[in-house]
Amino acid sequence: MRKVVLGLGTSFDGYIARKNGAVDWLSMDWDYDWTAFFKTIDAVLMGRKTWEKALEFPPKNSKRKNPYAGMETYVFSKTLKDSGVEGVEIVSGNLGEFIENLKARAGKNIWLSGGGELAKSFLDEGLVDEISLGVTPILLGSGIPLFPELVREVPLRFVSSKICRHKKEDNAMLELVYEVKK
Ligand SMILES: NC(=O)c1ccc[n+]([C@@H]2O[C@H](COP(=O)([O-])OP(=O)(O)OC[C@H]3O[C@@H](n4cnc5c(N)ncnc54)[C@H](OP(=O)(O)O)[C@@H]3O)[C@@H](O)[C@H]2O)c1
Repeated sequence: MRKVVLGLGTSFDGYIARKNGAVDWLSMDWDYDWTAFFKTIDAVLMGRKTWEKALEFPPKNSKRKNPYAGMETYVFSKTLKDSGVEGVEIVSGNLGEFIENLKARAGKNIWLSGGGELAKSFLDEGLVDEISLGVTPILLGSGIPLFPELVREVPLRFVSSKICRHKKEDNAMLELVYEVKK
């Protein structure tokens, strides 16, 4: 059965972005196997604010191409009517029904890539199966929270952890994977 995996990078103090949305403190220089992760997924879900940020990343999306090309891409929004990008679908309806339909189709895991607001919507409705965090060694002090206040507690079960060393500096990031107890 396909799993919904909430996977994102967090600061040590639980923020996913600076207050202005910047994620410059995240690095691709950790010894993390992105290729292996991308082999496990074929669909990506994100909130409208994350989508708008993704479009800013280089290479600048002047041609408005999907930065997540090769994956079924869904942007959740009640205000956007059209993503403006071929192959990127806007979802505004019932989350539970959407996930039920996606899971009913054959496929790999489903990457819930954030941000915090969309993660909250999914967690509140019990739609997350696994949480995979890249805990980055920085205290941002303030920012956009990884987990905005949830409507209920969510018990977790440990799956794995991995130390990902920095390729240039003497430092490490921790990959933590927990399953959501149902
Ligand atoms: N550190 C990381 O790995 C990481 C990962 C992802 C994102 N980020 C950063 O996080 C920031 C954005 O996160 P965020 O928490 O502010 O926002 P977000 O979750 O990306 O987007 C929030 C928006 O998603 C839509 N949404 C949320 N729940 C919904 C639902 N149940 N149904 C339909 N639409 C729903 C709403 O859009 P409408 O207002 O249009 O209705 C809402 O305003 C960005 O700066 C991004 O770069 C960081």
